[in-house]
Amino acid sequence: MCPTNKPRSASSNLPYSISILVFLLLTLLFVISLVDVTLGPDRSWISFQSSWARRVDLSQSLSGDEIGELERPSSLIGIAEAPLASSLLNNTLEEQQSPKSPAVATGGVIKMYTKLERLEAALAKARSSIREASQNNNMTSIHQDPDYVPQGPIYRNANAFHRSYLEMEKLFKIYVYEEGELPMFHTGPCTSIYSSEGRFIMEMERGNFYRTKDPDEAMVYFLPFSVVTMVQYLYVPGAHEYHAIGRTVADYVDVVSQRHRFWNRSLGADHFMLSCHDWGPHTTSYVPNLFNNSIRVLCNANTTEGFNPSKDVSLPEINLKTGEITGLIGGPSPSKRPILAFFAGRLHGHIRYLLLEQWKEKDQDVQVYDNLPNGVSYESMLKKSRFCLCPSGYEVASPRLVEAIYSECVPVLISDGYVPPLSDVLNWKAFSVTVAVKDIPNLKTILMGISQRQYLRLYRRVKQVQRHFVINGTPKRFDIFHMIIHSIWLRRLNVLIQD
Ligand SMILES: *[C@@H]1O[C@H](CO)[C@@H](O)[C@H](O)[C@H]1NC(C)=O
Ligand SMILES: *[C@@H]1O[C@H](CO)[C@@H](O)[C@H](O)[C@H]1NC(C)=O
Ligand SMILES: *[C@@H]1O[C@H](CO)[C@@H](O)[C@H](O)[C@H]1NC(C)=O
Ligand SMILES: *[C@@H]1O[C@H](CO)[C@@H](O)[C@H](O)[C@H]1NC(C)=O
Ligand SMILES: *[C@@H]1O[C@H](CO)[C@@H](O)[C@H](O)[C@H]1NC(C)=O
Repeated sequence: MCPTNKPRSASSNLPYSISILVFLLLTLLFVISLVDVTLGPDRSWISFQSSWARRVDLSQSLSGDEIGELERPSSLIGIAEAPLASSLLNNTLEEQQSPKSPAVATGGVIKMYTKLERLEAALAKARSSIREASQNNNMTSIHQDPDYVPQGPIYRNANAFHRSYLEMEKLFKIYVYEEGELPMFHTGPCTSIYSSEGRFIMEMERGNFYRTKDPDEAMVYFLPFSVVTMVQYLYVPGAHEYHAIGRTVADYVDVVSQRHRFWNRSLGADHFMLSCHDWGPHTTSYVPNLFNNSIRVLCNANTTEGFNPSKDVSLPEINLKTGEITGLIGGPSPSKRPILAFFAGRLHGHIRYLLLEQWKEKDQDVQVYDNLPNGVSYESMLKKSRFCLCPSGYEVASPRLVEAIYSECVPVLISDGYVPPLSDVLNWKAFSVTVAVKDIPNLKTILMGISQRQYLRLYRRVKQVQRHFVINGTPKRFDIFHMIIHSIWLRRLNVLIQD
């Protein structure tokens, strides 16, 4: 368990009866995709085509009536040039500072803007400033920053990312639901392979960053359950599989949607959950809107299991054996790395099967083990190798990605349908190598084909990108905590919520 600053008094009991009602869709409040979540040059950043397509997709889950609503021209115009941005901004954003008169005149009608509308106006303004920043394809951000200025090809668009990051710091507010009892809620594992789940939940509970106690001020709502802890407490091997866990999640969403009006308002689109457990995705399937609408922050980011990179967030697996990162970060220069490629790990899943079958004990350059020889330390092997192999195991994510980046070994991704973390901002091609599963037999040829010059470039960029994956006891700007929040922020920018 993670240490928390103050013990919490649990505030609710979850009713255990579930009756999954056919959900009635109330008002038209839905979700409009406004900006593409990729901060990069290779896709147009704002894509109205795709946003409309996405909206149509979403509307398929709505009843006929709502589709009629959505297709009205007026709501179409709503997407095109965020009316909130053009008509509200000049007034309301300044208005927010002064307590008086939230009302503005538009077309002779006096309208009181709701908190939600002002919040959407602020988001619209952020969106357009990011859009503007994305026009600058220079490799270096032109924004000032006391800590770090993003630059170079590791970013899809350094300037847009930096602008977006700064906007997030200025505006983003997260509400954490207080319902739910320890230990399955409000805490999680802070060591082991699932530590990124517990660390994140703990940091949100501490509330030093982005958290607001006023739900009306929030841009997203966090459902603070830990699937890893639920598995510890609820999972009965064999018999019922995930059922008790999925049911607990469904009950929780039920409670939250009864007590607060926010879930129903967006059908979950401005809500997020986070899990590093293999079963994280499956547990969300007990609540269709959680699965289909909410932002799911998952280690198991398997697109063939419904992971949707335009609304879900890929969370890195970080294996903190002792809970500390001291000693894990850094490594020798390329000339002191005699081994071409290294992997050690159990035979989990078919990709590893192929890898071990092909390379185990075959070649001194490609050192692949299911069990490291006695006396050989895993960490020292990472630091002695130029490339570190990161094949999927039973699930797509691998802690090796972060281990490689920490030890300054160029990661080699071998997976199917995996969306690597932070790929909304980072250009993985610039600092890693991807090898298709079918090319496992050619692994050595592929890696030998990378020239020394190319390798040094990759190596330098791995060192540069490291800061974004570092997990700090107290988060530091641009570290993994803030980067995950940034990924959530980008997904939130994609939707427009209306009352
Ligand atoms: C809002 O302000 C901008 C400049 O800040 C101006 O160009 C625009 O006309 C204003 N819009 C309205 C509706 O007043
Ligand atoms: C790109 O950078 C160069 C040199 O710093 C600068 O002269 C140029 O104006 C920049 N381009 C844009 C679009 O900002
Ligand atoms: C949200 O909707 C559900 C049914 O869809 C309903 O039972 C619940 O009372 C609603 N919540 C609020 C706060 O109105
Ligand atoms: C998500 O939406 C799709 C299409 O509307 C539907 O077929 C699917 O069952 C939904 N997923 C879940 C977990 O309910
Ligand atoms: C991803 O999901 C598909 C579909 O469930 C599954 O067949 C595949 O094995 C998964 N990938 C990994 C590496 O677990």
